[in-house]
Amino acid sequence: MNETSPTQDATKQDVRIFWGAVYDAAYTEVDRDLNSASLLERLGELEAMFRLRRHMATEEMPVDELGGKSVLEIGPGAGGHSALYAAKGAHMTSIDITFSRAQATQTKFDLLGDRARGCAALQGDAENLPFPDGCFDIVYSNGVLHHTPDTERAIDEVYRVLKPGGRAVIMLYCKTSFDYWFNRWFCEGLLLGRMFRSRNWLGNATEWPGARKSQTVINPITRCYTRGGIGRLFHQFEDLRLRKSEFYFYLIPKLGRIYRRWQIKHYGVHPGGLLVYGEPWPIVSGVEVFLGRVMGWAWNIVAHKPERGDAP
Ligand SMILES: C[S@@+](CC[C@H](N)C(=O)[O-])C[C@H]1O[C@@H](n2cnc3c(N)ncnc32)[C@H](O)[C@@H]1O
Repeated sequence: MNETSPTQDATKQDVRIFWGAVYDAAYTEVDRDLNSASLLERLGELEAMFRLRRHMATEEMPVDELGGKSVLEIGPGAGGHSALYAAKGAHMTSIDITFSRAQATQTKFDLLGDRARGCAALQGDAENLPFPDGCFDIVYSNGVLHHTPDTERAIDEVYRVLKPGGRAVIMLYCKTSFDYWFNRWFCEGLLLGRMFRSRNWLGNATEWPGARKSQTVINPITRCYTRGGIGRLFHQFEDLRLRKSEFYFYLIPKLGRIYRRWQIKHYGVHPGGLLVYGEPWPIVSGVEVFLGRVMGWAWNIVAHKPERGDAP
């Protein structure tokens, strides 16, 4: 796989540099220790973690019916989701704007050997997908398209490459959430004054693992959506279904750090986090899972391209 420069756009270049830096800081060691056997073990843990937390990766994706389906993942990051679906029999194509992320995903396909025969990861841009119209049964993307400069165009691309009747499974950040209004807008935007210093204050306030001093690059873009905003983005689709999730006390500025120590002591951690976050996932309380449904930070979106859908 050769590294290409998919765009001259300065913001996209910032996006690639940022995500490259995040994963270099948080993740590389986990990949270095992987072999075929340990990858399969880690994928089992990953699926168990997804099921435990009712994650979109297993709730909205038909994981047990993926055999023979052509699935596109946009922005695989560490490549764990793509590898899981490949191991379940999906014909995976994975595209990430950051070369090292496409490479990490391809390495996982290679480690899966025959189980991932025909699966491929490549570097490319969600806003200009290098695929013909109507070629995928499912397009999956978790926490990616709110970080690209033109989210609307990326969703139109998802629609274009889906087969008629195909399914989009996409997570985008939710504006009507505790995390947005309290953690981000009130604490970080207003009290810390971020919103007066930068037009991109939300980007600056997200995906910033403060304690990891090795991360030096800030996030160029994050946006989040109301229910109405999601409706407008997916206007060409039918059967639009939305589910909120992901509420964590530990994200509350300052107090969250104290809570996180208590949470890990009380509930423990799950090894399923290693493959996708580079570290075990701190198990959340039932209260957080419940609150996630009411005021979580994630919209888990399922929508279908109409059977007679034409490309936009
Ligand atoms: C938050 S990470 C999500 C990783 C993975 N989906 C997960 O759930 O763990 C965002 C990923 O999207 C990629 N990305 C951002 N903008 C993109 C674009 N326009 N096209 C393709 N990939 C993009 C980044 O390089 C990064 O790997």
